[in-house]
Amino acid sequence: MELAERHVVITGAGSGIGRALAKRIACERPRALVLADVNLDAAGAVAREVGGLAVQTDVGREEDIRALVERAREHAGAIDLFCSNAGVPGPGGGPEAPDDELQRTWEVNVMAHVWAARAVLPEMVDRGEGYLLTTASAAGLLTQVSALAYSITKHAAVAAAEWIAINYGDAGIKVSCLCPLGVRTPMLDTAFEDRIGAAALLRDELLEPDDVAEAAVAGIRDERFLVLPHPAVAKYVALKGADHERWLAGMRGLVRSARESEAG
Ligand SMILES: NC(=O)c1ccc[n+]([C@@H]2O[C@H](COP(=O)([O-])OP(=O)(O)OC[C@H]3O[C@@H](n4cnc5c(N)ncnc54)[C@H](O)[C@@H]3O)[C@@H](O)[C@H]2O)c1
Repeated sequence: MELAERHVVITGAGSGIGRALAKRIACERPRALVLADVNLDAAGAVAREVGGLAVQTDVGREEDIRALVERAREHAGAIDLFCSNAGVPGPGGGPEAPDDELQRTWEVNVMAHVWAARAVLPEMVDRGEGYLLTTASAAGLLTQVSALAYSITKHAAVAAAEWIAINYGDAGIKVSCLCPLGVRTPMLDTAFEDRIGAAALLRDELLEPDDVAEAAVAGIRDERFLVLPHPAVAKYVALKGADHERWLAGMRGLVRSARESEAG
């Protein structure tokens, strides 16, 4: 899809990948850019930079997503591209994490995508066209060794995007699913607080948010489902698909060597 004259909504637009997406999409001369973030000051600063409308939205609440979609429609009519980009790292570690933290991660990283689809798909289907961009993660195709919650929720985000692409493709709905590895944003600092997570991320190059935004816009232009800004991810996914046992053994080796270097 070409983005000129399109109405685009981006969540998590106040920082990192969302901010870079807003700046990159602005270069395509969209009809309107609606920039949502729980942090209104941050979204407002980006909106001033790119000439968009900032809307305070907590994507972990369905009523906020419904209000965002209504506000966007009042502002510029039907939405052409909805980018569910906001996300949180969630608690580190495994099943010992408290339920309320796991639940909040689930709502922001997964339910937000379901609620956005619920809000925008009926109108898109009526018009016979519409586009959803999901910012998932390579953790949704592989895993994030330091964080169970992030791995589960990003897998679910990929699954939701796939489900919509399969079930709504014939109705004219396009879906792209953005799955980067490490990107230099404030969220990466959280991942780096964990030595095992840092060791895993540092095996591959870290990209800038602008590189990821460029890849996302190219993916949307090509109407490609899987957008992998780090080419190595395609290789890892192929390895996992070809031999799951070998992939698991390799991941266990990665965790073991990170633990050993931490201990020693
Ligand atoms: N940085 C990475 O290495 C990396 C890698 C793969 C995927 N991702 C994904 O990219 C997306 C963007 O992350 P980023 O790295 O740009 O992080 P970031 O922390 O720089 O930006 C996230 C933005 O989302 C906003 N946000 C957080 N919770 C929100 C909520 N409930 N409602 C609305 N806005 C909310 C924050 O205020 C912030 O502006 C996330 O979904 C993340 O999981 C990041």
